[in-house]
Amino acid sequence: MNITVINGTGKHGVTYHLKEIFLEHFREKSNIREFYLPKDCPAFCSGCTDCILKGEHFCKDADYVYKIASSLLESDLIVMTSPAYVMHATGSMKALLDHLAYLWMPHRPAPEMFKKRAVIITQCLGAGAKSAAKDIKHSLSWWGISEITVFTGKLIGNIVWEKLAKKKRIELTKKMNRLSDRLFHIDYEKPSKVNVITKIKFLFCRMVQKSLYENDPEYLDGKHWAKMGWLGKERPWRT
Ligand SMILES: Cc1cc2nc3c(=O)[nH]c(=O)nc-3n(C[C@H](O)[C@H](O)[C@H](O)COP(=O)(O)O)c2cc1C
Repeated sequence: MNITVINGTGKHGVTYHLKEIFLEHFREKSNIREFYLPKDCPAFCSGCTDCILKGEHFCKDADYVYKIASSLLESDLIVMTSPAYVMHATGSMKALLDHLAYLWMPHRPAPEMFKKRAVIITQCLGAGAKSAAKDIKHSLSWWGISEITVFTGKLIGNIVWEKLAKKKRIELTKKMNRLSDRLFHIDYEKPSKVNVITKIKFLFCRMVQKSLYENDPEYLDGKHWAKMGWLGKERPWRT
């Protein structure tokens, strides 16, 4: 199976340690591709909207974004990680998510996304891991992913993994091993189930795209929906 990991920090800190524990189960059987932010996508979205209006290849940062987006699309499992910075995901994670706005359902969602599973791993010192995970989950769910598992950790102690109280390290390791074991035993040959919320969001976007396409058949998003057959009877969870 293919796994893509997006590390929201380049630091080999607590987030990195937790992610390594998670991947341990998968290493032997999987093809794992990792990206570290900001190194692998160091630029910010400038808001030119070329990705939406002309196509994602027109983005000034397309070389970075294309590598990450194509790896995500080839994955059975997506792993996104981030420590909490001021109660949210890291700025570099947010910068990447901005670059991937064209994949949101109101624009040009990729049919492959609806079949995938994802895991979000966040942690913090005291508070903010949940809101950091929510930042990431928001994008993933609007890309069309239904099966998203969230791991949040709270250190309440030292911020260096090796200096954390032994009891805390054991607690986090056990929690992560349980999660990893559960996800390892999923049959990735079978596509993920698409939940009702995703279907409602899709159908609402379809209604908007249908009217946009009728008004302007050259509008890129509408053309994508028409090409996929989604303005007719096709649905991404049926193919
Ligand atoms: C810029 C910055 C902002 C932070 N904001 C928070 C925060 O809002 N809440 C919190 O509990 N910890 C916060 N922290 C602490 C980190 O989340 C915590 O140390 C975490 O374990 C770092 O993970 P890492 O070792 O993977 O880098 C912040 C740290 C930094 C550098």
